[in-house]
Amino acid sequence: MYTTLLTSLDAGIYTITINRPDKLNALNKDVFTDLNTALDEIERNPEIRSVIITGAGPKAFVAGADITEFGGLNKEAAMALAKRGQDIFARIENSSKPIVAAVNGFALGGGCELAMSCHFRIAGENAKFGQPEVNLGLIPGYGGTQRLVQLIGKGKAMELLVSAHMIDANEAKQLGLVNYVTTAETLLDHTRKILEVVNSKAPLAIAGCIKAANAAYDESKDGYALEIEEFGNAFDTDDMKEGVTAFLEKRKANFSGK
Ligand code: COA
Repeated sequence: MYTTLLTSLDAGIYTITINRPDKLNALNKDVFTDLNTALDEIERNPEIRSVIITGAGPKAFVAGADITEFGGLNKEAAMALAKRGQDIFARIENSSKPIVAAVNGFALGGGCELAMSCHFRIAGENAKFGQPEVNLGLIPGYGGTQRLVQLIGKGKAMELLVSAHMIDANEAKQLGLVNYVTTAETLLDHTRKILEVVNSKAPLAIAGCIKAANAAYDESKDGYALEIEEFGNAFDTDDMKEGVTAFLEKRKANFSGK
């Protein structure tokens, strides 16, 4: 089904592994096509409750956009490429199911942008983050200038953008770019454990949280109004009735996603 991704579904957790280890999992056209198809599958398949995105091999999550595809692009083609990348990463950010980046090495350029479009990030201790585009006479094109500022604040983001300086996993954690740092060996297990907890919660309520939290960063939306609406929507769900009843009956809730 995919030429550049490995996928597996286990206990509601869909793991997507970007699989071009010889090219440090660089994002070429085929990876974008496959990621877009995988996002359709995530939306379509009710057995998928949450998602991990990681990279194949011990060295890289994703070392950026595939630089070999940049040769010969004119301004219009470059803008179309940035739009395509931004659209796919916006689909990740706005997915109603939690998508977590398990960063297992270099997350540079488009790789850092991919990780930042996920709902949150866990890093192996060998992870390295950076936006090295200025080394190539470029700027980030897949949302990096916006999401880096949102996640770590303008001052530090500016420094990383204009210096191409790479930071390690521990500094990324101090800056709030990643939530946890694990050993390289335990990265996927740790990420799965977090998602097992997430998967035991009410799916429609999770979707509501994602939508309302994302609105905090979208000037075209009134996040507080959206929160009121989503809060109200939750009262129309079977899961809210089940959650409240289970609490009162002192038992664990069994959510149906309805
Ligand atoms: N696009 C295309 N190919 C890439 C790539 C990218 N972004 N990043 C790495 N590769 C390829 C290399 O060309 C090399 O291929 P080859 O074996 O056919 O020559 C292979 O992946 C291994 O990379 P290499 O550079 O040999 O590994 P390294 O350990 O010496 O260095 C990096 C690792 C990440 C520091 C280095 O690969 C790098 O700087 N990559 C580009 C990062 C970047 O600028 N990303 C932003 C792009 S906008």
